Amino acid sequence: MDKNQIKEEIIKLKKQRDAVIVAHNYQVDDVQEVSDVIGDSLALSKYCANNSKKVILFCGVDFMAESAKILSPEKKVLLPEKDAGCPMADMVTAEALREEKKKHPGAVVVCYINSSAHVKAESDICCTSSNAIDVVKSIKEKDILFVPDQNLGSYVAKMVPEKNIILWKGFCITHHRVKVEEVSKVRELHPDALLLVHPECQKDVVDAADFVGSTKQIIDYAKSSSNQKYIIGTEMGVLYKLKRDNPDKTFYLLSPGLICPNMKKTSLNSVYNALNEMKYEINLDEEVRIKAKRSLDRMLQI
Ligand code: 13P
Ligand code: SF4
Repeated sequence: MDKNQIKEEIIKLKKQRDAVIVAHNYQVDDVQEVSDVIGDSLALSKYCANNSKKVILFCGVDFMAESAKILSPEKKVLLPEKDAGCPMADMVTAEALREEKKKHPGAVVVCYINSSAHVKAESDICCTSSNAIDVVKSIKEKDILFVPDQNLGSYVAKMVPEKNIILWKGFCITHHRVKVEEVSKVRELHPDALLLVHPECQKDVVDAADFVGSTKQIIDYAKSSSNQKYIIGTEMGVLYKLKRDNPDKTFYLLSPGLICPNMKKTSLNSVYNALNEMKYEINLDEEVRIKAKRSLDRMLQI
């Protein structure tokens, strides 16, 4: 089948299965094109929680599909590529977190949504890159154990200085490798461009930015700002929407290394196969799911 035939088949299967296709902003262009909704972690969690379709085909990485299942246990949640994981999420386990909690008995555990259901179940509240500051501000205790992203955690610590944030040592392999020297070089090449970065970048890169936000917040910022040129400091997948929605504006990627290999595993073929064979289904232990849901629900109330 050629690309257009696959797209037609996907549309037919979607109806037959009563499915909705959701895609994260880092998915390849072809996958974003066939999706019903494209967004950041928070927007997609909310969308999945309020959607009435029987099947959610989640084009992203495993923790995102797991979050959809935690919030909507009655639905069949499918991840088209079963090995699409998030290395940062794997940098904290429930067991290691339990040990760390013993060292900080009064601390509230905030876990980034980029974490397993087991880690969410061990945490008090979840956050995403778009609401981490609000989540931390909503907590009355001073001591906060923030897992697993040290870079998002240190950005939150800067923005909410009244809290004592204990950082886990996790990081995103894609954002963490961007160097501040690359910022100077690209800024020199494009002095009239605004630099928009994701808070998973290292502190010196985040400090050098004109705007810091989640993938959706970056996309929204570029759309609403009157500036013509932007340097984008997050995974290259966001360029699809940025270019589609702003044909008159120019976007430069901050670093050629801004590509997440796990997000790129899902192709048009994987979407077709997933709907055709109804794979790979996400299943969670019910006790873990219920505990993890508490952390997500607490976040969604904010
Ligand atoms: P967003 O919630 O900003 O889309 O980020 C998810 C992610 O994995 C970033 O690397
Ligand atoms: Fe995980 Fe980084 Fe990929 Fe996001 S970009 S899914 S944090 S590895």
